[in-house]
Amino acid sequence: MEATIVTLPGDGIGTEVVSEGVKALQATADKYGHSFTFDEGLIGGCAIDATGAALPDGTLQACQRADAVLLGAVGGPRWSDPAAKIRPEQGLLGLRQELGLYANLRPVRLYEPLLDVSPLRPERLRGLDLVVVRELTGGIYFGPRREATSNGGTAYDTMVYTGDEVRRIAHIAFRLAQQRRGKVTSVDKANVLAVSRLWRRVVTEVAAEYPDVTLENMLVDTAAMHLLRQPTDFDVILTANMFGDILTDEASMLAGSMGMLPSAWLGENHAGVYEPIHGSAPDIAGKDIANPIATILSVAMLLRYSLDLEHEARAIEDAVEAVLAEGYRTLDIRVDGATPVGGEEMGDLIAEAIRERGSPEPAHVSEVSTRAHVHQEKKSHA
Ligand code: IPM
Ligand code: MG
Repeated sequence: MEATIVTLPGDGIGTEVVSEGVKALQATADKYGHSFTFDEGLIGGCAIDATGAALPDGTLQACQRADAVLLGAVGGPRWSDPAAKIRPEQGLLGLRQELGLYANLRPVRLYEPLLDVSPLRPERLRGLDLVVVRELTGGIYFGPRREATSNGGTAYDTMVYTGDEVRRIAHIAFRLAQQRRGKVTSVDKANVLAVSRLWRRVVTEVAAEYPDVTLENMLVDTAAMHLLRQPTDFDVILTANMFGDILTDEASMLAGSMGMLPSAWLGENHAGVYEPIHGSAPDIAGKDIANPIATILSVAMLLRYSLDLEHEARAIEDAVEAVLAEGYRTLDIRVDGATPVGGEEMGDLIAEAIRERGSPEPAHVSEVSTRAHVHQEKKSHA
């Protein structure tokens, strides 16, 4: 197939990890006979420097035309003045909002070779495989706000959800659970927040349409604790924008490192944005030590959800697992006896494994149709 992929490397380690993601895409194209055209754009701090805006019009338009977008990370000390009116993060928030990408899928899967890397005991982690479905274009990130004009002044942010916003993200979580282990844990703060009480009522209503899925409601503080106590209890976690932001950073440590967690931003159209959940890590930028795996696994999600190439997505995930099993490790996932590699070498090893391993024939036909289903069903619940 032919596809146009916009790359937005952004700032800090964003540029390094996106290069390795592109390598994985090229290896996939060569191996499976696809043709991907890459179009690079500016976002975040580098975009502010070049154009004065964190999300330049040209970038937004290129993303609107693309089949998918691969994003690195934004931000850095250079643009972090709290008094600044234009901030790199506005690039991410603007892109989510402008493209209507309200569903953020953040899978947290423990790759068996990394069992000893997480700070948690291995027996609590074996078999860990959960997905956080985070609402991405509403809630406290986008509600009415006021900046304080002085330290004696008042500032506020408001958490707002409409029933429709809750309903559409809930459907995504339930559809996903149907293809997985059939459980949704909806995380809220319904004992305190009115917006969470609406959330809980609407999610419970949607659950009635999915008799094959079990719904569990959990308060966010309990969820934070339970993620460490018994993380394998979770299958699909459905939650609001800010709770999802916080819980996914916590959950990333179960997988060994933030450097392992990919994500997808999805909306009504097939095109989505894919990015590692980690940030721009300016302290390690330019040293070739950043782990590119989160970005390479994001590329697998891109193939799965935007290009419907499930077999190729699996091939990338298998290549990652194989390289880890051979003992190659970047700094963040190193253990005794591992073979230390830099980010670029890790990217090369994975690209090589994609080219050499796997069969060119789709081997998981039933998976192809069920995974693609997430997207189709999502459309019908717009
Ligand atoms: C994330 C990030 C962003 C968020 C920031 C950089 C705006 O933390 O994608 O998790 O809070 O959504
Ligand atoms: Mg975050």
